[in-house]
Amino acid sequence: MAGNRGVIYKGPGKVAVEEIDFPELILRPGPGVPPINENRPCPHGVILKVVATNICGSDQHMVRGRTTAPAGLVLGHEITGEIVEVGRDVEYRKMGDLVSVPFNVACGRCRNCIERRTDVCLNVNDHPGGAYGYVDMGGWRGGQAEYVMVPYADWNTLKYTDKDQAMANILDLTMITDIFPTGYHGCVEARVGTGSTVYIAGGGPVGLAAATAAFFLGSSVVIVGDPNEPRREHARSFGCETVDPLEGSLPEQIEQILGVPEVDAAVDCVGFEAKGHKDGTEQPAAVLNQAMEVTRAAGGIGIPGLYVTEDPGAKDEAARHGSVSLRFGIGWAKSLTFATGQTPTMQYNRGLREAILNGRVPIAKNVNATVIPLDEAPRGYEEFDRGVPKKFVLDPHGMLPKG
Ligand SMILES: NC(=O)c1ccc[n+]([C@@H]2O[C@H](COP(=O)([O-])OP(=O)(O)OC[C@H]3O[C@@H](n4cnc5c(N)ncnc54)[C@H](O)[C@@H]3O)[C@@H](O)[C@H]2O)c1
Ligand SMILES: [Zn+2]
Ligand SMILES: [Zn+2]
Repeated sequence: MAGNRGVIYKGPGKVAVEEIDFPELILRPGPGVPPINENRPCPHGVILKVVATNICGSDQHMVRGRTTAPAGLVLGHEITGEIVEVGRDVEYRKMGDLVSVPFNVACGRCRNCIERRTDVCLNVNDHPGGAYGYVDMGGWRGGQAEYVMVPYADWNTLKYTDKDQAMANILDLTMITDIFPTGYHGCVEARVGTGSTVYIAGGGPVGLAAATAAFFLGSSVVIVGDPNEPRREHARSFGCETVDPLEGSLPEQIEQILGVPEVDAAVDCVGFEAKGHKDGTEQPAAVLNQAMEVTRAAGGIGIPGLYVTEDPGAKDEAARHGSVSLRFGIGWAKSLTFATGQTPTMQYNRGLREAILNGRVPIAKNVNATVIPLDEAPRGYEEFDRGVPKKFVLDPHGMLPKG
């Protein structure tokens, strides 16, 4: 049997690449596996040789010690791979198939899956929603590894019929496992459409993916806000306007760009670790309040940015239990709509795959996809945490183009 290596969360501020068990078609007990999933048989699963797997801002919340993630968790939920073992109950996937894996783990059988709400599948965890390598998401082993098991594989994998064509576009395609559908979903939920003016809070990979999606959906002006200047500079490289939301009044900065102090739609691509002041002090509701302030009456706010129920690293007692100081009255008075939650990736990955394969959208360039070997994952986490304008793609088997 082949060995396996993966990226392990060791405790606040620390990840390491270590030997781990080769996956089996069963979910063995381990860090983060809830009792109902212990020794859960997965004859409906496949084992993948991981071709590409990305580091995400969502992983950083755990690695910064801002969640209840247990040490020992194998990280990674953005997975593309080649099938090396097929479970007994898998009908439509074969050895050697190259597949993209939505980051949500979903059963394909429950009420929510039937309604395409794979973000809140009812059967893969002890509460709604599952994901690979993530705290409270069912204990499914992460894919920042050489090999990983994907359950309900007929449902949870999107196949590339032309492998050579897919490998030629792999740095774009690796983004349909999470951030491109996530940015797109944030815009759809904010009702971005032809001619929309859009404020994207956050110029990290999700914000840049949302900005790309906003243009793709027909926006007239996309304004990316981030206190991080190198990230703003990267956003400008593909046509975004930029602002520093902590440098003076945000409505006034928007007015200088648009002639009015408001936008049609806003997307929160920051989440609960939002900075509220120039000195870097956090204010968990800063982005939600800024978004309500600058979105026009009757507009929409998409909220892919993550908010937690428990934050052991929070400054005050309320925030430690997920309560944030929201000026909800502003949103109510303006009849705004809000949409939150994990992305139902499967609603978008097929369409975005086609857009990429037909040369319609340079997502890898826009998020600055940067390939590093699996062994260098700790450096990737550290540089990403410092805010470099890069989306790190891990290359466990040396199969990716360098660059
Ligand atoms: N809903 C989903 O399914 C889903 C999927 C993927 C990621 N996410 C979440 O999306 C968020 C962004 O992910 P990422 O990978 O881009 O993370 P990231 O940490 O790289 O980016 C966040 C950016 O927000 C900026 N920022 C901080 N305070 C700000 C403020 N007040 N206004 C504007 N910008 C501010 C930071 O400088 C940083 O550049 C995370 O919370 C992540 O967990 C959600
Ligand atoms: Zn992710
Ligand atoms: Zn389900």
